[in-house]
Amino acid sequence: MRDMREIVKRGYEEGDYRKKYRLKDRMDEYPLAKKNIDRMLELLPEGASILDLGCGPGIPFDKYLVESGYDVTGIDISQKHIDFAKDNVPDATFLKSDMSEVDLDEGSFHAVLSLYAIFHIPKEEHEDLFSKIFRTLKSSGLALVTLGTELEDEKEVGDFIGSEMAWSSYTLEANLRLVEGCGFEILHWEEEGRKGYPEHHLWILARKS
Ligand SMILES: C[S@@+](CC[C@H](N)C(=O)[O-])C[C@H]1O[C@@H](n2cnc3c(N)ncnc32)[C@H](O)[C@@H]1O
Repeated sequence: MRDMREIVKRGYEEGDYRKKYRLKDRMDEYPLAKKNIDRMLELLPEGASILDLGCGPGIPFDKYLVESGYDVTGIDISQKHIDFAKDNVPDATFLKSDMSEVDLDEGSFHAVLSLYAIFHIPKEEHEDLFSKIFRTLKSSGLALVTLGTELEDEKEVGDFIGSEMAWSSYTLEANLRLVEGCGFEILHWEEEGRKGYPEHHLWILARKS
């Protein structure tokens, strides 16, 4: 079987994610994301530390967080996206790494954000990733993530952003159970888009309990 990570990494290096999905860099162009990010921010202390896993080009989300006074660290597997993010959000810290492999200190972040990224990792690794997120959060820390909604076993497409791409996911219900099973209390969840259509996502705001 082909290595899913290699497909994803190459896909973002060769394709143009920004052109298809992030040309609008104002937060109010993404009302659902803004509502969920603001819901998280209301529960965080001023200047809180936020880790963004799969940060992409840093706009609009990391830019919004930094402009709102938060201390942001972004991690992404694509060097191209890390370079964009550094240009777009010079006051945040960005590191090229695989979110599953990066070393994270215990109890070091007030919140972890991961939007439209975890579904690029084989689903069998999602539980370990959420346990890692749990460990790196401070007590009562928050996780705001999007996940897939349907069972997908390394689904591949030939042309996503002008390049190949791959996704892997459990169902919406199984994802909610998985997050709770890793010790989180789910504060809010909602669906983005419609079941059976592309861009159907599960948003979860959860607290380390
Ligand atoms: C759909 S984009 C979302 C980017 C950003 N979160 C946003 O919403 O604009 C997915 C991002 O996840 C990154 N990514 C995929 N697999 C990753 C991994 N294993 N570790 C770190 N980043 C990864 C990709 O390089 C890409 O930048």
